[in-house]
Amino acid sequence: MAKPVGSITRGTTGYNRLRRCDRWVVAVHGQALRAAERPLVVDLGYGASHTTTLELFTRLRGVAPGVEVVGIEIDPARVAAAKPYEREGLSFRLGGFELPISRPPTLVRAFNVLRQYAEPEAWRHWETLCGKLAPGGVLVEGTSSENGRRAVWAGLSPEGPGTITFSARFDAFSRPSDLADRLPKTLIHRNVPGERIHAFLSDFDRAWAVSAPYGAYGVRQRWLASVRELSRSWPVPTRPPLGGPARWRLGELTLPWSAVAP
Ligand SMILES: C[S@@+](CC[C@H](N)C(=O)[O-])C[C@H]1O[C@@H](n2cnc3c(N)ncnc32)[C@H](O)[C@@H]1O
Repeated sequence: MAKPVGSITRGTTGYNRLRRCDRWVVAVHGQALRAAERPLVVDLGYGASHTTTLELFTRLRGVAPGVEVVGIEIDPARVAAAKPYEREGLSFRLGGFELPISRPPTLVRAFNVLRQYAEPEAWRHWETLCGKLAPGGVLVEGTSSENGRRAVWAGLSPEGPGTITFSARFDAFSRPSDLADRLPKTLIHRNVPGERIHAFLSDFDRAWAVSAPYGAYGVRQRWLASVRELSRSWPVPTRPPLGGPARWRLGELTLPWSAVAP
């Protein structure tokens, strides 16, 4: 077997760390997974334990019973540690960005993986992974805090980046721009005046500030009011599956990538 493409990095992970993203994947891509003939999902860089891959598998099986999930790790010791947890429809194997699988995946998730690489490499790996997707497939690439209460992820199609999603538990931030430290590698160094991502996060903070009176009804109401305010000047999708109150009330906001692209 050729050497896997990429490098071993810290394996930090944890129970339910990626639940916010799993929930979004189920809501936004569940139907496509259900409709696909033999839906294959890759969890790339699952870390020191099989946990988040098993959680993804369980959640996806709830909406797409035919889904097959493969966890891919570049560290052989982490593959060996996960193997005992294999079951029908869930397997673990050694590999990297080359994705050692036999058919194109409908969905690839790579969470807390690309942050360890330099920005030009991150763009390149996005392109490589997008080039491996099945038609209509999606790459979900993101970063979260250690406990998963703050996360930002991008949704990419074979054509490139399509969406960016901000997600936070209501007690895990004091203003929306606290999420800046979870931006994808391709954006994190762009959060400076003159860049769209900086303008967006500044406007989100402003919307949060003017929505302070809604805080009397709880942080969720304040978030909902901020998103409504933001959607006056930013192209916030307002209908399911990407937008609308049912998504926003979870402490989530999805935007077209083009709105913040560098
Ligand atoms: C910080 S852990 C993240 C674990 C899990 N995805 C999570 O978010 O909790 C990153 C893992 O990605 C693995 N990794 C890094 N580059 C990789 C690559 N190119 N292919 C496969 N795994 C990779 C590292 O070895 C490490 O175990």
